[in-house]
Amino acid sequence: MSANSDALKRYYRFHAAIYDLTRWSFLFGRSALIEALQKMRLQPRRILEIGCGTGRNLAALARAFPKAEIVGIDVSEDMLDHARRSCAFAEDRVLLECAPYGPQSRLGKFDIIVASYALSMMGEGVAPVLDTARRDLRSGGAFAVVDFRDSRFGFFRRWMALNHVRLDDGLLPEIQQRFGEPAVATRQAYGGLWRWFSLVAS
Ligand SMILES: C[S@@+](CC[C@H](N)C(=O)[O-])C[C@H]1O[C@@H](n2cnc3c(N)ncnc32)[C@H](O)[C@@H]1O
Repeated sequence: MSANSDALKRYYRFHAAIYDLTRWSFLFGRSALIEALQKMRLQPRRILEIGCGTGRNLAALARAFPKAEIVGIDVSEDMLDHARRSCAFAEDRVLLECAPYGPQSRLGKFDIIVASYALSMMGEGVAPVLDTARRDLRSGGAFAVVDFRDSRFGFFRRWMALNHVRLDDGLLPEIQQRFGEPAVATRQAYGGLWRWFSLVAS
């Protein structure tokens, strides 16, 4: 396990308990991303969420795609404990794996891969993760991302770095390098304190 994964496991040992109570106020665009996937009228057999956390998106995906098998992978067992409870209603088709996602992962191919506010926490490790997502996405499949983009405010970038989040606008070029140039929606949060983005690439 990498130093980054160990740091995230320690971070979420405390934050898992308050995650769902607090994150609705700043992790914007998560429901809209799943609604956009639903509108695409895909008929996915398998869906992966990289860094699924407490399972908020997994539960929404299980409801949106009732015939699909949904796999969630996360480095934090504390977060996955919550995900297990959130997805109990679909436990026969929601599978959870506690491990860092990357080239060593052997989860098979997916029709949809979702990464929601996870890639911005991976630092230098994001490149192999994106390469693996490219490898694991079936031809014609959809790679759906919502995440932090940047902030003009140094104090805020430093605060977010303490919370393991990059806000340097470096993530989008890494995605475009591997998934082409899909339409990107960029939005401001709290009057411009930071920007976040979402996209669906194939
Ligand atoms: C901010 S949370 C987002 C959780 C969820 N996707 C959501 O939108 O609420 C980021 C999650 O990504 C996980 N994570 C970070 N790097 C990871 C990696 N390399 N492999 C698997 N999970 C990772 C963290 O443990 C954490 O649970």
